[in-house]
Amino acid sequence: MSSQTITISSPADFHVHLRQGSLSRLVTPHVRRGGFNLAYVMPNLTPPITTTDSALRYKQELQAIDPNVEYLMTLYLSLELTPDEVRKAHAAGIVGVKSYPKGVTTNSEGGIESFEVYYPVFEAMQEVGMVLNLHGEVPSDASANIHVINAESIFLPHLVRLHAKFPQLRIVLEHATTRAAVETVKSLGPTVACTITAHHLALTVDDWAGQSYHYCKPVAKFPDDRKALQDIVREGHPRFFLGSDSAPHPAHNKSFATPSQGCAAGLYTSPILLPLTAHLLESFGALDKLEGFVSRFGRRFYEREIDSASGNSVVLRKISQIVEKSFVAEDADVVPFWAGKELGWSIWY
Ligand code: NCD
Ligand code: DOR
Ligand code: ZN
Ligand code: ZN
Repeated sequence: MSSQTITISSPADFHVHLRQGSLSRLVTPHVRRGGFNLAYVMPNLTPPITTTDSALRYKQELQAIDPNVEYLMTLYLSLELTPDEVRKAHAAGIVGVKSYPKGVTTNSEGGIESFEVYYPVFEAMQEVGMVLNLHGEVPSDASANIHVINAESIFLPHLVRLHAKFPQLRIVLEHATTRAAVETVKSLGPTVACTITAHHLALTVDDWAGQSYHYCKPVAKFPDDRKALQDIVREGHPRFFLGSDSAPHPAHNKSFATPSQGCAAGLYTSPILLPLTAHLLESFGALDKLEGFVSRFGRRFYEREIDSASGNSVVLRKISQIVEKSFVAEDADVVPFWAGKELGWSIWY
């Protein structure tokens, strides 16, 4: 065989939205199609997954759709979560708790101190070894000049404070988009890590201005921010690893139906994730870091390491493919990132 190949041991996606109902049945099998056999599953369903029991039920639904993926489950941080529930969740194998901005704004003036109400929960998480996943944005506030562009950098002091208060608590700043976030995480201790999406290695503000399929939260930032993300991946820093934030929405929620109706935030990368990530890392000279970024670094942080003998390897071939225009099943239809574009790599099934 003359074509170039890369073998990756047990790719793991440490941030993915697998949804519910027909959309879940459509997108969950795309985890493996995209080359991954571990999915760290986000809890922002309707209603959100806030209890151990609902997380375990959701895990069973996902296993019924595709049993060949390891699903690591999370809870949505809310006032329902008590230290006792944390211990119960941990005992049931639930791995993390995701904090979303809106869930914490209710209790406090300005929000700066609003994590404090959860300190007993974080204390229990630290004790048992659960992971805190942060959606690191503060809410927009015109009177304070806070908006989608600076929402992440203004959040960073919360991360620094949380780490200082709970130095043994493992914290992941999810889907970093700024140079400031990269530098902050880099400056913190070994218990703090950061996920980076594939799409934020590709996009900047110009790509989502006027293109609703490139709109996600946090929004892609400036070229210099993208360069910081690419540089930290090229450096092979072990606390920065892939979390796709693949977040499918039905096509009718992505396109602007009427001028007054906004569009849903989220890009869909699951079905092409490993070839896309290889393509992007190659484009900025980091292909030799692919296995660390998509497998080893995240697995080490989450203590899910696999010895290469027992792990499932995935082989990529340097054969180009055109990304599907859309995926349709039952009443669900989603358009993937880079629909119709050429990717330089394909999975060897
Ligand atoms: C942020 C805040 O409130 O400013 N975090 C926090 O301290 N609770 C995030 C947010 O609430 O949106
Ligand atoms: O773009 C996003 N989509 N960002 C999020 O934080 C949520 C996600 C979703 O669930 O659609
Ligand atoms: Zn998020
Ligand atoms: Zn997400």
